[in-house]
Amino acid sequence: MRSFVVTTALALYASVVAAQQSSGATSYLAKEVPIARTNLIANIGPDGSKSQGAKAGVVIASPSKVDPDYVYTWTRDASLVYKAIVESYSRGEDDSLRNRIDQFVDSQAYLQTVSNPSGTISTGGLGEPKFHIDLTAFTGGWGRPQRDGPPLRATALIGYSNWLIKNGNTSYVQQKVWPVIKLDLDYTASNWNYTGFDLWEEVSSSSFFTTAVQHRALVEGATLATTLGLTSLATTYKTQAANVLCFEQSYWNPSQGYITSNTGGGRSGKDANSALASIHNFDPAAGCDATTFQPCSDKALSSLKVYIDSFRSIYPINSGIAANKAVATGRYSEDVYYGGQPWYLTTAAVAEQLYDAIIVWKAEKKIAVTSTSLAFFRQFASTVAEGTYASDSATYTTLLDAVTAFADGFIEIIAKYTPADGALAEQYHRSTGAQLSAKDLTWSYAAILTANAARDGHAQESWGAAGLTAPATCGGNQGPTVGVTFNVRAETVWGENIFITGSVDQLKSWSPDNAIALSPANYPIWSVTVPIPASTRFSYKYIRKLDGKVTWESDPDRTFESSASGSSSTNDQWR
Ligand code: NOJ
Ligand code: NOJ
Repeated sequence: MRSFVVTTALALYASVVAAQQSSGATSYLAKEVPIARTNLIANIGPDGSKSQGAKAGVVIASPSKVDPDYVYTWTRDASLVYKAIVESYSRGEDDSLRNRIDQFVDSQAYLQTVSNPSGTISTGGLGEPKFHIDLTAFTGGWGRPQRDGPPLRATALIGYSNWLIKNGNTSYVQQKVWPVIKLDLDYTASNWNYTGFDLWEEVSSSSFFTTAVQHRALVEGATLATTLGLTSLATTYKTQAANVLCFEQSYWNPSQGYITSNTGGGRSGKDANSALASIHNFDPAAGCDATTFQPCSDKALSSLKVYIDSFRSIYPINSGIAANKAVATGRYSEDVYYGGQPWYLTTAAVAEQLYDAIIVWKAEKKIAVTSTSLAFFRQFASTVAEGTYASDSATYTTLLDAVTAFADGFIEIIAKYTPADGALAEQYHRSTGAQLSAKDLTWSYAAILTANAARDGHAQESWGAAGLTAPATCGGNQGPTVGVTFNVRAETVWGENIFITGSVDQLKSWSPDNAIALSPANYPIWSVTVPIPASTRFSYKYIRKLDGKVTWESDPDRTFESSASGSSSTNDQWR
């Protein structure tokens, strides 16, 4: 009895002393969290007060109708929002969320069947980034496909399935939830190695966030498949998960100490992409494992510092803030969207990554400082050396206190630029701090809720990251390709040749310099056969080259969908 009292008192003392949370962040969150909950629900159909016209279970990105028009449902936003809802429901915070989650399941089961510009349910349509809120296809131009949507949706629904199974409702999983998850996992297993647009919808290449969330979904999907007795599917997912994990390692830039966000796009690659990947792949059982870039891994912490520092001098609202204190952060420093401003959800992601790290350090009762994370930790203790610091050491206490204050600092930045009514738009201005772009962004609210949960010490459920190792050589899953023969009738002058380029890698990603030459063997029909990923919709154009001068065909772009197997051909006329 006596010893119980003593230990409890010591534990309390330790938690008070070792992790003094800032009262500014505490009081802001006490007020903001209920507002965020209310405003998030307002953006979900069928009865959300700000989402009239949205079908049941449909998350609108924001009620902003113009400048920008965000009254659409993005699979990424909706899945991240529902991931947060499922976590909250699983923690027993609000039983009324159950019905909403079921509505999300039903809405997505239908949405998967809607043919759209990326394809049909079986030809790539799951990679379509956004839809109208009545669940019809959006057919305007957009950066498509985006391959993070299906794995993020799978992760949200796997979280729900795991809760259902734990609570004795496996049949609901089998009948309703698993069919949706399976389609998303099958898509991910067969398409992860194809390029697509990044989470910011701008760069078409491979992207760390996308790769990381694909890996997670395949790992936990394999486990769920095993639980449901689907062993051969589980094997397929596991095999591809290992390939993805291998590829995932390649984003790390060892000389600069950060995770490069995109394989294309010509930017520095310092991007909120990596912090978002860490928080959405957090697995407390994996400790500070760097293979899956856990929040407290040396690579993720190093990357976080590089990312944060990239905003210190570019936003006027950050000027005068000490180099080791929290600042406003945005998507990436080269951003020009709405003038390139800080975002609430990226600033919250920084705080959340640090809170996740703190959860693990406390659970493991130690902090490891490696050569990779040294610069991160030296911000807070200039003489700290590589080594492992146990919780009874002074260094542990110093670092834990400092990181706690640092994390809370990001919440205080958000607090400073939150208007009195607690509404959170997408961005806040780099000079004035005033909100701008989409008002009431659903993802902003979700970001506050998940950061707050992590600050309160709630770890996310494990998904199987513990002990994973990346294979030494990467198994390339190039996926099936099929031959497409491009035939175009074109009259040419002497010395002039016909080339093709288009939206897929195999057609050189719209590069006139690297465009593929056609053969005039059957002049005036010019032809070439190119292996193209199967069941893929893409666009292309022919170009003429004469003495180094390039002439494109007139608009619009041509489109074609490759077959699932066999081969196919076009019968085009120069225009
Ligand atoms: C709209 C996208 O949602 C946004 O991410 C992007 O930055 C802009 N288009 C500009 O391309
Ligand atoms: C623009 C963001 O870049 C993108 O990630 C998001 O999906 C859309 N806005 C909708 O919120």
